[in-house]
Amino acid sequence: MNDDLHQITSSLQLLDEDKSDNLLSLTYSTFFEVCPEAESLWEKDDPDSRGKMFNGIILTIMDNLTRPEVCENNLASDVKDHDEYGVDKGMYGLFFTSLLQALNTILGEDFNQEMQQAWKRQLDQLEGMAHKHTCR
Ligand code: HEM
Repeated sequence: MNDDLHQITSSLQLLDEDKSDNLLSLTYSTFFEVCPEAESLWEKDDPDSRGKMFNGIILTIMDNLTRPEVCENNLASDVKDHDEYGVDKGMYGLFFTSLLQALNTILGEDFNQEMQQAWKRQLDQLEGMAHKHTCR
């Protein structure tokens, strides 16, 4: 777990402003390719809300690593909101896979095996928690 925190923090440090912007847009474009029905859940092309959501996911991972009970409570509440936006169970996994693929593309060789495994472990845990709390 501690090692995951180290690996995730180290990979985030590799993201300068340009790479962060590219990561954000590549994650969403990949996600909308594999899950086209999700795009219309945002009322319009809304970069602010997408950016906030992206930061929210990073914060959720950090909470999972440092204060897991707070993480699950917050996530349960986010998932309830997301049920209302029309987000369904399968979308969480598709979004997280898109994020992992985008990290691989944007960071290239710097995104080493240990980092990849740490992200995968954390995103799998978030997906499990989301599935537990969603009603869709
Ligand atoms: C753990 C996973 C997730 C977290 C922590 C999260 C977090 C957030 C946050 C914080 C916002 C609010 C942004 C704002 O204030 O404008 C948001 C908005 C939104 N999220 Fe997520 N999100 C997650 C997964 C997903 C997934 C998988 C989808 C799939 C489509 C999704 C769809 C949306 C939509 C459509 C909105 C915008 C709602 C609106 O503005 O009307 N989210 N998310």
